[in-house]
Amino acid sequence: MLAAGGLVVFPTETVYGLGADATNDAACARIYAAKNRPDFNPLIVHVLDAADAGRFVEFTALGQKLIDVFWPGPLTVVLPRRTDCALSRLVSAGLDTAAIRAPSHPVGRALLAKSNLPIAAPSANRSGHLSPTHAEHAALSLPGPAAGGPQLVLDAGPCGVGLESTVVDATGSKPVILRPGGVTAERIAAVTGSVAEADPADLDQPRSPGMLARHYAPTKPLRLMAVDARPDEALLAFGPDAPAKAAGPCLNLSPGGDLIEAAANLFAMLHDLDESDAAAIAVMPVPETDLGQAINDRLRRAAEGSKEPAG
Ligand code: TXA
Ligand code: MG
Repeated sequence: MLAAGGLVVFPTETVYGLGADATNDAACARIYAAKNRPDFNPLIVHVLDAADAGRFVEFTALGQKLIDVFWPGPLTVVLPRRTDCALSRLVSAGLDTAAIRAPSHPVGRALLAKSNLPIAAPSANRSGHLSPTHAEHAALSLPGPAAGGPQLVLDAGPCGVGLESTVVDATGSKPVILRPGGVTAERIAAVTGSVAEADPADLDQPRSPGMLARHYAPTKPLRLMAVDARPDEALLAFGPDAPAKAAGPCLNLSPGGDLIEAAANLFAMLHDLDESDAAAIAVMPVPETDLGQAINDRLRRAAEGSKEPAG
């Protein structure tokens, strides 16, 4: 089911996860749709061990140290994506880092080993609901398989930790805790010597831990609600009404107007157009329904971000 792009609920030692093949853009887009999230928060990628993680992210000395001590277990490290990283850009929400962890739960590990895939998984609950520590809570919170929910729920009884993993930014020389969780700051400090406080500017809402404010934004200005591209603009189109011929580079999020396809393509297409010769990117309107809300949220943030001076 994972290899075919489906969603599978599985147990970890912290909470049940809503899993998808982390290299499959459409499968990752389905996670957001099933959770009914109005925004794209980056997702944790689950792997078996450090060797697996090394296929996707660059290890810093700090990251290596944390992984040596705390894996497998409830510690997620944020590290730079490798240039040849096969993970969907959606799991990173466009950022050049990925959050990665090796769970210790035997059933979660068996799924990783059998599928031989990195598994993107947020907690298996509808947005705004509690993170599920029981399989039946996950099943009750999410839509059924016919409505875009998980095709399978692997029930292994209650989760042991019951608290999500600690998310640590390990890209620098000091660990920065982005979300407190199963591994305490004291235990991390005992290994690394110190722990830096997260800059409140990096947290969307300091009271809701783990929410990132530092969003991906293209370097080129974005012009939203465009019907066509101006001569010096690239066009990010949507739907069947896109202009047949654009002067500059043009990519269509979904020629058929499918929002899951559009979400799957969003970050990769923004990156591609940002690397084109165009001076700016014109973006056609995307409907404000279902995943369109998350797409528009991210486009608006990107348009705002690209107006701000660098630094
Ligand atoms: O215990 C857990 O961590 C559970 C189980 C299923 O493993 N998973 C979970 O995943 O809570 P999720 O996707 O709900 O949590 C992702 C957290 C968010 O706080 C997000 O902001 C942060 O990790 N995160 C993910 N990628 C990031 C990145 N590239 N940079 C910074 N933070 C990131
Ligand atoms: Mg959650």
